[in-house]
Amino acid sequence: MKYFLILFVFFGFTSSLNAADEKSKEIEMPKTFVLGDPIKGSELVESCAACHGVDGNSMVTDWPKLSGQNQKYLYEQLLYFRDGSRMNALMMSVTPYLQTLADNDLKDIAAFYSQYSSTVGQAKNDEEMLRLGTQLYRFGNIKKQIPACTSCHAVYGQGNSLAGYPSVAGQQIGYLTSSLKAYRSKERNAGAGSIVMQGVAANLSDDEIDALANYMHGLYK
Ligand code: HEC
Ligand code: HEC
Repeated sequence: MKYFLILFVFFGFTSSLNAADEKSKEIEMPKTFVLGDPIKGSELVESCAACHGVDGNSMVTDWPKLSGQNQKYLYEQLLYFRDGSRMNALMMSVTPYLQTLADNDLKDIAAFYSQYSSTVGQAKNDEEMLRLGTQLYRFGNIKKQIPACTSCHAVYGQGNSLAGYPSVAGQQIGYLTSSLKAYRSKERNAGAGSIVMQGVAANLSDDEIDALANYMHGLYK
């Protein structure tokens, strides 16, 4: 209990926990994300390997790596694909399968991919592109109302697993590009996080998106 209290104070949450109320028998626990079981997850991912790779390291630029991604984020995205609020032509091929799975199964799948490390990507060595990508990623652009990406995705791109902000480090360039464009056009609109990213991407030009994707692809720790 003490541990939770410290954790929650630390991250600035206001919790409805009232430890001082000794009379209250029913103690409301704070909402924490309970992690899945990667071994159970390993039995549920046969139909995913063709596109995402056996260990979540996809080999195709337009198909996202799932390896090294945080569980909370993966779990949420799987919920969106299952309920149809996030749509993609290729992922639609597994939607009927996802619909046979329970929430806990999706958590186990998330745990399975999360345990692997993402392979390192190699950014294109184009000086102008790297300069723009570094600048935008680290500092944003106040005039264009583009926030620094580091504040949520971290300096090395690993994201924030407690908050469920996705890792973008080493992610495939084609996928990073199409994702930022899908937020900009508001086509990607599943869940509260996507609304945040719609705001972030609203004023990005195509060149800025290319530069950011190139930069994130090359990030690693
Ligand atoms: C035919 C190829 C294909 C198959 C099979 C496939 N996926 Fe995907 N998956 C994709 C593509 C393409 C995307 C990117 C979708 C987009 O751009 O919105 C994606 C996205 C995802 C994402 C979101 C990644 C992110 O960073 O937001 C998750 C999670 C995911 N897939 C899990 C799975 C699981 C689990 C399976 C198996 C049950 C599976 N996929 C099967 C192609 C596939
Ligand atoms: C205020 C926090 C915040 C900031 C600032 C932010 N992001 Fe995000 N980002 C998120 C969240 C939350 C998501 C998950 C959205 C969802 O569920 O669709 C996300 C998702 C993404 C994704 C999709 C990842 C995937 O696997 O599909 C990309 C790419 C991305 N952000 C890039 C950026 C870039 C580039 C910047 C800076 C220009 C940026 N973000 C700034 C919070 C943020």
